[in-house]
Parts: sequence; C-alpha cells; structure tokens
Amino acid sequence: MIKTLIVLIYSMFIFAINGLSTPYKAYRGNIYAMLAMSIAIIWGLYELNPQYLIPSIAALIAGALTGVIAAHKISMPDLPQMIALLNGLGGLAAGLIGLTETSNADYHPLLLLFIISIGFITFTGSIAAFLKLAGARLPADKDTLQTISLIILILTIISGFYAYHNSGQYLWGFIALLCLWGLLFILPVGGADMPIIISILNSFSGWSTVLVGFSLNNTLLIIVGTLIGTSGTILSYIMTKAMNRSLKKIIFSPPLAITDDIPDKNKTIRQGSPQDAAFLMENANKVIIVPGFGMAAAGAQHELANMAKILKTKYNVEVKFAIHPVAGRLPGHMNVLLAEANINPDDVFELKDINQEFQTADVAYVIGANDTTNPLAKTKTDSPIYQMPILEVEQAKKVIFVKRSLATGYSGIDNPLFYADNTLMLLGDAKEVTKQIVADLEE
Ligand code: TAP
Repeated sequence: MIKTLIVLIYSMFIFAINGLSTPYKAYRGNIYAMLAMSIAIIWGLYELNPQYLIPSIAALIAGALTGVIAAHKISMPDLPQMIALLNGLGGLAAGLIGLTETSNADYHPLLLLFIISIGFITFTGSIAAFLKLAGARLPADKDTLQTISLIILILTIISGFYAYHNSGQYLWGFIALLCLWGLLFILPVGGADMPIIISILNSFSGWSTVLVGFSLNNTLLIIVGTLIGTSGTILSYIMTKAMNRSLKKIIFSPPLAITDDIPDKNKTIRQGSPQDAAFLMENANKVIIVPGFGMAAAGAQHELANMAKILKTKYNVEVKFAIHPVAGRLPGHMNVLLAEANINPDDVFELKDINQEFQTADVAYVIGANDTTNPLAKTKTDSPIYQMPILEVEQAKKVIFVKRSLATGYSGIDNPLFYADNTLMLLGDAKEVTKQIVADLEE
C-alpha cells in the first residue's frame, strides 16, 4: 500500500514538472502537483500520532490561509521577493526539523549538522535576497562585507566542529553564526543577479528536504527534495548561461559603476503617437512583438493579444512574439503571461529561433523591454549586461519602443536604440498605449 502511494505521488509530481515544460500543459501540470501534494498531506495526517493531529491541522490551515492571502496580495513585480521568502521558509522548516532531532540518538550527528546548516543558511540567505529585492541598502561596502563574511565563515566552521564533538553544547552559537553568515554572504550580491541567487537558494531548500528525508527515513521527502534540488540547480545554470554570468562573477565581482557613454548631443528621440504605431503596423507585412518587464508591470498581455489578433485577421499581418530568456524578472515570466492571454504558443519564439528574423520584419514592437534589446551588451565591457545575448530589434525597418520615460532598465544603463533614426518612442503605460493602438486598428 505504502509503496503504491509513493509511486502514485512521485509519478504525479513528475507529470506536474513535465506539464510545466510547455504552456499547453501547464494548467494540467499544476493540477497534478496540487493532487500529489493533497494526497501526501492526507497520508501524512493518517500516519501521524493522534496527539499531534490537532496542532498539525491548525498549522496547515494557518499556512494555507497565509499562502492564499499572500498570493492574492502580491503584485507581479514583487513575485521574486515572494519566492525568496517561500524558499527561506522551506529552509527554516528543514533547519528546525534537524534541530528537534538532535536529541534523537538514532540519527548521525553529522547528518543533523548538515541539515541544520543548509536549512538555516537558506533561511537567512533568502531573507537577505528579500531585503535586496525590496531595495535595502548595504550596511557597509561590498569588500568589507565579504571580509566579515569570511571571518564569520571560519568561526562557523570552528563552532560546528565543537558542536559535533560536544553533543550539542555549542549548537546555539553555531546556529547564530550560520544565520549571520547566510545574511552576509548574500547581501553583497548585486540586485541584477538576485534572481539567480533565489534559484540557487531554491535548490538548497530542495537539498535540505532530501537530507530531512534521509534522517526521517521518509522516501517521499527524498524524492520530492531531489526534484526541487535538481530543478533549482538546472534553472540556476540556465539563467547564468542566458545572462552570460558565472557564479564566481556573481558572488565575488565588485558591483560595476554605471557610466553613460552616449553623448547628450546624440540624445534626441523621435516621439510618436498610438495612431502612428497603428498606421505603421497595419501597413506592415511582418511585426515582431518583444515583451519585457514593463509589459508584465502594466499587465498589458490581454491588450497585446488583442492587437496581434486584429493585425493578423483584419490586416493580414504576420505577427510573432520574441522572448528573451531573461525578459522580466523570472525565468518564463513572459511565457506565462502570454499563455494567460491565450496567445498561441506557436507564435512565440525564443531568442535563438527568431533573432535572424528581425532583418525581415517591418516593425519590432518593443513593449516594456529594455536591457534585453540593448546593443551596448556587445561592446560596453563595464556594464552588468556585457556579453548577454540580445534580441536584435534594431535590424527591423522600424522599432517602436513603448515605455513611460527614457529611464534605464534593470541593469541601469542607457539604451542607444531610443535615439536611433529608425526608432519611434511611444511614451506611456504599456497597457494604455496598446489599448489606444487597438482602438485605432479597430476603426
Ligand atoms: P528591463 O530592462 O528591466 O526594462 C523594463 C522597462 O520597462 C523599463 O525600462 C521601464 O521603463 C519599462 N516599464 C516599467 N513599467 C512600465 C509600464 N507600466 N509601462 C511601460 N513600460 C514600463 O526589462 P527587460 O528587457 O525585460 O530585461 C530584464 C532585465 O532583468 C535584464 O537586465 C535581466 O538581466 C534582469 N534579470 C532578469 C532575470 C530573469 S530570470 N528574467 C533574472 C535576473 C535579472 P520606464 O520606467 O521608462 O517605463
């Protein structure tokens, strides 16, 4: 019976992950994950010592309520912070389980120390990631923080050694140092690299679950922890590749001073209206839409889907969507939003599959994207996006940029394309501007 349940839950989690690999099956994937989790919880409650039943159900209800309220309250731009907190709570849970088991002679103390270490580092590291993403300033410069963090690391290792050999006498000191080190290690990382750090911490929370599974002899925790740990590790690798950043650079390179290389005399823009944009696109043969963080922030995906539909059906224009691997603030950020607006996934292309096509496009409609199109990524060696592959929108006959101002993107560097001869700037909120274009196309 138990084996059948484990196989059932495990298979459902695998189906869930498989489902999330494509927008067509993502909804089904989520349903599988929810079912698997529900069965695991019910099974866990059934197996539980009855004296713990009421506190466990109370904790489940409190957790579920907090989760539902937080999910409804959180705004799209704040999602990475929320993920950081959730990872942190996973780590804290693992750390606390490790702590409660220290009195249990059945478990090897080294295993428990490992669980406590990964759990508490994940917890405070995630809090540091949360604070950074919420715009917190560093309490000291990066070099000072890294030196202090090295000293704390040495002290942590020494105290861990004492905790191991003195049956827990030094445990609280060890945990305090671990927590401090988790904070100090993550705080100096640049804000632009924080999503990668969050993904690494996510994999940590998975690995801590695996260790808890080993200590509690719980096969399901081992299996689920492995799924989280490996997917987090693979995701971190994909992100570092897509941004052309190595882990070493992310953790140890000093933050780059942002310099502006575009002379002021060259900063003249050609500003257009939604009517101009509608005219250009209805007379085009091919339009490539490039969404970015601003599209997500404005929630413009439904207007965008409408615009694409009208261009295709009423004006017979070929319309494609180009997605940069790090557009937005989370991997797959754009794909999820476009899928939510029922945009056909067959019209959505990754950078490597569409970059050649900008040469044959009449219009590149860049909506709330900036860094992911910035040609300075090829030449500006002192920029945070140096060597990041970009969408070559400037190759299109006309580039339309929709954004509220000439402000920089996440990396903090100006984009020379705003001032290019073939660029039309449409300054305004992405949703409002696209709505006006739709109204014009419908006339
Ligand atoms: P960004 O370069 O961040 O640019 C977004 C632009 O959207 C901003 O310049 C902003 O300009 C505009 N915007 C904001 N709100 C808007 C609104 N309501 N309406 C219209 N425009 C709005 O975005 P991107 O091109 O998607 O690039 C993503 C950046 O995040 C990259 O630097 C990437 O390295 C970084 N990053 C991403 C990830 C992942 S996994 N996606 C991970 C780590 C880092 P205005 O203020 O002028 O409107």
